[in-house]
Amino acid sequence: MDQPVVILDFGSQYTQLIARRIRQAHVFSQVLPYTAGLAQIRALCPAGLILSGSPSAVTYADAPSCDPALFSLGVPVLGVCYGMQLMAQSLGGSVGKARVREYGLRAVTLDVSGELFSGLRPQCDTWMSHAYQVDRLPPGFVGTAHTETCPLAAMEAPGRRLYGVQFHPETSHSQQGMDVIRRFVRDICGCAPSWRMEGFAEQAVADIKKAVGGGTVLLGLSGGVDSAVVAALISKAVGERLNCVFVDHGFMRKDEPELVREVFTRHFPVHLSALDASDRFYEKLRGVTDPEQKRKIIGAEFIAVFRDEAQKLGALDHFAQGTIYPDVIESGAAPGSTVIKSHHNVGGLPRELGFTSLIEPLRFLFKDEVRELGEVLGLPEEMTRRQPFPGPGLAIRTLGELTREKVDLTRHSDAILLEEFRKAGLDGQISQYFTVNTDLRSVGVMGDERSYDTAIAIRAITTDDFMTADWARVPYDTLALVSRRIVNEVSGVNRVLLDITTKPPASIEWE
Ligand code: XMP
Repeated sequence: MDQPVVILDFGSQYTQLIARRIRQAHVFSQVLPYTAGLAQIRALCPAGLILSGSPSAVTYADAPSCDPALFSLGVPVLGVCYGMQLMAQSLGGSVGKARVREYGLRAVTLDVSGELFSGLRPQCDTWMSHAYQVDRLPPGFVGTAHTETCPLAAMEAPGRRLYGVQFHPETSHSQQGMDVIRRFVRDICGCAPSWRMEGFAEQAVADIKKAVGGGTVLLGLSGGVDSAVVAALISKAVGERLNCVFVDHGFMRKDEPELVREVFTRHFPVHLSALDASDRFYEKLRGVTDPEQKRKIIGAEFIAVFRDEAQKLGALDHFAQGTIYPDVIESGAAPGSTVIKSHHNVGGLPRELGFTSLIEPLRFLFKDEVRELGEVLGLPEEMTRRQPFPGPGLAIRTLGELTREKVDLTRHSDAILLEEFRKAGLDGQISQYFTVNTDLRSVGVMGDERSYDTAIAIRAITTDDFMTADWARVPYDTLALVSRRIVNEVSGVNRVLLDITTKPPASIEWE
């Protein structure tokens, strides 16, 4: 086994993104909580260490910290954002509140004569997200980057292989970010580029075999890529001892329940039960308008439907889920992190279900890695290339209280959008697109009649990891056609809006 690059997680939303970038450089990495002791870290014989960002600040009384001895282990260390500040403070520098809080893309000037940025362009845009910054360097360090308002945007201790960057090289929006990561893990830590997705698949199948033993597994299929890849992995590991349940909660896209049934009976030698549980869901959601409450109710109802189905299927031992990493962090599952949204498919395994274990083989992967894994496992492209679709489905794209009529407007307008974007060949260029029923009514005129109808919004984004996203620059002609078709064909809609917000600060979904 290769020596890993160890990432110490201080609760940043981007920690697993660092791990993913390292995989992209074909290097093996391992994430440990910041509470991991020196002995545990040493035992892994790390080739290098990365200290992640954090929602905390080093000046807080309860700030997460690490053993300063880490900086004299003799292995290269890279501190990212909070990690850089922690390194500075631990080694005798100081950190203070930034005069100007930097958030989003910032132009940075790099000193390319140093070790970390050697070979890079000196000017680039990087992703910043901080209110604190290093204001005095520790002895022996030099500043290696600055922005207009952050004089010490990177630092290094020449010859000691200690580096800090205030920006986030792991986000896709940081230009040359991948180069910084590659330079650190490959050149500075000296790791060989030997990590491959095939190896991950083999390991995952072996882990599942071990966890399941001679038992049986229940998996909830959503119709999306994630649960499909989990189905493929588990069926490789345990064959027909996998039982899949597909719950139609009434918030699926047009024709989706039929498609799921068709694809899953054709491609997988698994037991599949498909249930229409929409009455139950609408009943539970009546009068509910709060987004978090909607998500929680849907999550809880899913569990209830599974419980009922599991009882019908007889004793099953393990419960599997297609949870991927962005779901995990946004639910605040990592130590020291903050809850952003409750993803319905996270939250642990309710004991009352009586399963002995929860199997989540994709827990640390990002969407595009899941697609790649699907391809490695031999899944058809129609499945691996499908757009992500959230577990609560159209329920979180239909704002306010949920009624079948309102969700129908969302579904119908969404089908038009999907059809026209596909026809325009935008599939490969836009990562995710859908419509949102804004629950807003406005005045219009149709024929000679006044209308007072719903406004539908178009959300189309580009991203490679769904952690940060930009709004897609869709050609005007396509937008015009979609808008015209929606207001003409979807009765009850008289206005179409375009969402032009990045993530952050907005999220991709509206609820
Ligand atoms: P947000 O809205 O959090 O979305 O920026 C990031 C990505 O996650 C998808 N998403 C979900 N997926 N269960 C899921 O399986 C959920 O509850 C959920 N909420 C959001 C979203 O579609 C986007 O691709």
